[in-house]
Amino acid sequence: MKVRKAVIPAAGWGTRFLPITKSVPKEILPLVDKPIIQYAVEECAACGIELIIIITSQGKAAIEDYFDKSVGLEHILEQRGKEDLLAKISHLSNLPNICFVHQKELLGLGHAVLSSKDVVGKEPFVVILPDDLFEQRELVLKEMLNTFEQYNGSVVALKKVEPDEISRYGIIKPKKVAKNVYQIMDFVEKPEPSQAPSNLAIMGRYVLTPEIFEELESTDFGVGGEIQITDGLKRLLRKQAIFGYEIEGDYYDAGTILGWIKATMAMGLKHPEIGPELKDYLSHLVRGKV
Ligand code: G1P
Repeated sequence: MKVRKAVIPAAGWGTRFLPITKSVPKEILPLVDKPIIQYAVEECAACGIELIIIITSQGKAAIEDYFDKSVGLEHILEQRGKEDLLAKISHLSNLPNICFVHQKELLGLGHAVLSSKDVVGKEPFVVILPDDLFEQRELVLKEMLNTFEQYNGSVVALKKVEPDEISRYGIIKPKKVAKNVYQIMDFVEKPEPSQAPSNLAIMGRYVLTPEIFEELESTDFGVGGEIQITDGLKRLLRKQAIFGYEIEGDYYDAGTILGWIKATMAMGLKHPEIGPELKDYLSHLVRGKV
């Protein structure tokens, strides 16, 4: 069955970015030349997703405005012959359809995903956490969709992490079934390293069967007093096999200040226009300090 819908949770407070997130949604912060959330939306477009459901909350109107067509601005740029600038914004109108679901209470990632239940309906769907970006861009989700089709079960993205990072992620107990593919035997959200069943951590991409909604409805509050998607998946495991796809290449976590700066640098260095000069500047900076 073709996966047509994607859910992008974007309702969180963004407390790790305070004070800026008092008035600017974290998802609108730029990564080089685009807001963080645009990468997730473009990834959906590249994977054939037809409807994107963005989960928002109070104070996130800037996200809706950003994806809205700016008729006045487009008109002025057209009149002034600024074709290059026009291309930068008119591209936004060619993205898949986007709808917004309001999460009234911020009760965790599992709860955010559950808010999309009525719009997703009874079909498989993708969840993209926009803070998590991959060097391989849409290739990760494409491979996950292939894995979903081949194994006929939900798929999460995985990456091996260092012991001191384990307690920041959902961790799985793996059984290897093919190159880069594991059947998941158990899930634990943010365990202490000594309690973790492996060092394979869940990165922010999920291809889920709609049965997850039923499980999330019965999932208790977990780590951090929140309804966790990982706990919903652990429940789903009792009824359906779930798989993990281990990503290759670098992973950027734009959800922390340091991670966001690192992602900006890594992506800036790869940017055709500014990359070479940025590289010179960074080596100049580093040479000056050591
Ligand atoms: C969430 C999930 C966690 C996952 C992580 C990936 O945590 O709960 O299982 O490993 O995203 O980034 P959060 O980053 O929201 O604390």
